[in-house]
Amino acid sequence: MKKHSRLKRLVGRIGFRLAKLPLYCLAMLNQHRLYMRFYVRLLRAQGMKLNGTPRYIGATTYFDDLDHVELGDRVVISDDVIFLTHDYSATTALLATGAVLKSDIALVRGISLGRNVFIGKRSIIMPNTQIGDNVVVGAGSVVRGKVPSDSVLIGNPAKIIFTIQEYAERCQRSLDSGLGRLD
Ligand SMILES: CC(C)(COP(=O)(O)OP(=O)(O)OC[C@H]1O[C@@H](n2cnc3c(N)ncnc32)[C@H](O)[C@@H]1OP(=O)(O)O)[C@@H](O)C(=O)NCCC(=O)NCCS
Repeated sequence: MKKHSRLKRLVGRIGFRLAKLPLYCLAMLNQHRLYMRFYVRLLRAQGMKLNGTPRYIGATTYFDDLDHVELGDRVVISDDVIFLTHDYSATTALLATGAVLKSDIALVRGISLGRNVFIGKRSIIMPNTQIGDNVVVGAGSVVRGKVPSDSVLIGNPAKIIFTIQEYAERCQRSLDSGLGRLD
C-alpha cells in the first residue's frame, strides 16, 4: 500500500471515530432511531455500500474497511460483531518462505449481506463472505464463504441448522406461548 493511501486511510479512520462519538452516546441513551438516522449517513459517507436501509447496526460493531462492506435492505447487526475484510497473515506466510518484503502485506477481501439478514451478538464475519437474503446468524458464530438465502446458521465454523421457514415456525410457537416482547 502506498504512503499517501495509508495516510488517507488513517485520516478517514480518525474522522470516522470522532464523528461516531456523539452517535455512540445516542445509542447508549437508547435513542436508536436518531442514532440510526445519522449512523447510516456516516457509513455511506465513508464508502459503505448500502442497498436500502439497515434496521439496526450495533454501535460497538466493528468494520475493518467500510468501503469493502455491502449491506442489503433491512439488515440487523447486533452489538460487538466484527467484520474482518483484511488479513495480514499473508505477510507471515510469505516471510516463512524466505520472501523479502518492503512492508507488511494484507489480503483485502470484501463482505456482502443480502436483504433481511440478522447477525447475532459477538459474531465474526470473515473476509470474502457473501450472505444471501433472509438469513439468521446465531450469537457468537464465525461465518465465512457463501451462505445461501433462507437459512439459519450457528457455530464456528458456522453451519446451517434450520431453514428460515422452520425457524419462523419455531418463533411463532414461542410467541404463541407468550414469550414475545414488542419494542
Ligand atoms: C440461533 C438462534 C436464532 C436459534 O434459536 P432457537 O430456535 O431458539 O434455538 P435453540 O435455542 O432451540 O437451539 C437449537 C440448537 O442450536 C444450538 N444453538 C442455538 N444458538 C446457538 C449459538 N448462538 N451458538 C451455538 N449453538 C447454538 C442449541 O444449543 C441447540 O442445540 P441442540 O439441538 O444440540 O441442543 C439463537 O439461539 C440465537 O443465537 N439468536 C441470536 C441472539 C442474539 O444475538 N441476541 C442479541 C441481539 S438481538
